[in-house]
Amino acid sequence: MEAFVCRSYEELSRKAAFAVANVLNTKPNAVLGMATGSTPLGLYQELVRMHEEESLDFSQVTTFNLDEYVGLPVTHDQSYHYFMHENFFKKVNIPNSNIHIPSGTTSNYQAFCQWYEQRIKECGGIDVQILGIGSDGHIAFNEPTSSLASRTRLKTLAQQTINDNARFFDKAEDVPIYGITMGVGTILEARKLVLVANGENKADAIAKAIEGPVTSMITASALQLHPDVDIFIDEAAASRLQMRDYYTWIQAKKPGAPQL
Ligand code: F6R
Repeated sequence: MEAFVCRSYEELSRKAAFAVANVLNTKPNAVLGMATGSTPLGLYQELVRMHEEESLDFSQVTTFNLDEYVGLPVTHDQSYHYFMHENFFKKVNIPNSNIHIPSGTTSNYQAFCQWYEQRIKECGGIDVQILGIGSDGHIAFNEPTSSLASRTRLKTLAQQTINDNARFFDKAEDVPIYGITMGVGTILEARKLVLVANGENKADAIAKAIEGPVTSMITASALQLHPDVDIFIDEAAASRLQMRDYYTWIQAKKPGAPQL
């Protein structure tokens, strides 16, 4: 796990996008895991900029989104289908048939979840998974006490997540109570993980995820078990890290480090 403490949201978004683009440059038909929420917006803007100005090509890319609200039609402006289309997919050249987003309106969730897991395998697994983190330490909709071995399934959202996400809806009662989400076990199988977080309201979750014990109470702490995780955070999100200075020291000393 490597933590990159950045001076601003713009810098962390740029660096995270660079990490994703690196995977695409070495593997043009990479499988990308996508996240929604406010945090990865800067990362997506930067990938779109690279596509427009630097010919970053998505024509062979396949995508799998982490999660979706249950009950929102794809046309609802708060559905993750709508979010991804508006903020990313309509701006790059990923073929529509290569885009996968969990369905929040299927008539058979169990069959859909099994199909989603199977489809990830058929596509060769996820090369790089983009992640945000909830203020309760969740990744995707894996709320506290989610099994660290969990697979794609339905989850009941925690009150804290409903409160956090109420800012996107007219009122808190409009926030769906259920989500369909990749599991922690699904996420841990991605070959590389890139997590972005900014702001003081993420500081506690980030400290627990990076430095706390591995626990289902903070599902992001399971990332400690993964061999290749890059975490891009701003100063505010890094403010409760005990080893914050060490992470900056590691980056400063990288140029002189022995080559692997
Ligand atoms: C959404 C997702 C969630 C968000 C998290 C943070 O696909 O995976 O875990 O990343 O709730 O959301 P923001 O970025 O809005 O604070």
